[in-house]
Amino acid sequence: MCKLAGQDNCDIIIPASRRLSMLAELIPPAETLADIGADHAWLLIGLAAAGKIKNGIGVEVTAGPYRQAAANVAAAGLTGRIALRQGDGLAPLKPGEATGAALAGMGGNTIVGILARGQDIMASMAFLALQPMGQAAALRRYLRQAGWRICREAITAERGVRYQAILAQPGEMAPLSDPEAEFGPLLLREKSPLLLREIDERIAGHRRALAGLERSSSEASRQKAARIRARIKEWEALLLCLIPAGKSFDT
Ligand SMILES: C[S@@+](CC[C@H](N)C(=O)[O-])C[C@H]1O[C@@H](n2cnc3c(N)ncnc32)[C@H](O)[C@@H]1O
Repeated sequence: MCKLAGQDNCDIIIPASRRLSMLAELIPPAETLADIGADHAWLLIGLAAAGKIKNGIGVEVTAGPYRQAAANVAAAGLTGRIALRQGDGLAPLKPGEATGAALAGMGGNTIVGILARGQDIMASMAFLALQPMGQAAALRRYLRQAGWRICREAITAERGVRYQAILAQPGEMAPLSDPEAEFGPLLLREKSPLLLREIDERIAGHRRALAGLERSSSEASRQKAARIRARIKEWEALLLCLIPAGKSFDT
């Protein structure tokens, strides 16, 4: 089962992926969901089969996954409810055609690029369900700047990797601190053990990078090392504030 911040069970399970099950749980019931970068179309198939969405539009830029999505949708008997379009990002959609969109399994900067290129389509949607693979800070900052607010967040782990998901709706959002942009304002508030583990491992990654930089004597390395040291200090202080007294965050 996937783990949603503050909640242990998800109603919808996409058997092949805990990560996608987490995202599916986050998505509100919708008339039509567009899945951008649909790939295998598992998300749309799972949501349509569960009755959480009435219709789906899968957009896929690459020919191979597009064909695979078509085969999977046909095998699930859902060709009448899930349309597939080959194309780039939000461009194959008309304004108002989809209630909301999912963009999952892509880098945060890639998701930002897709949203920024399709602002008229984005503006016609009621929600965005996002699951960035890295660069989450850039994505959260973009949402705020574009006039969207984060209303739910979730985190799960699959095969030792942690994944975050964000549900956003049009609206104002307070400025994000660096840790809020990086780790999620709502996830930080929830103090989920998975998030604490994520912060701890990111600190360890920074320490490894720092050890490498400290072996170099170049000015650029010294400056980068100083930035990393400051970040380690900030995240260590954050972790201390988040771990309940006398507890560990083992998951
Ligand atoms: C790693 S897969 C993730 C698939 C699925 N969303 C998931 O989370 O499991 C990313 C997919 O997005 C597609 N993709 C990348 N950029 C895209 C774009 N601009 N428009 C449509 N599809 C895109 C890729 O071809 C690939 O199939």
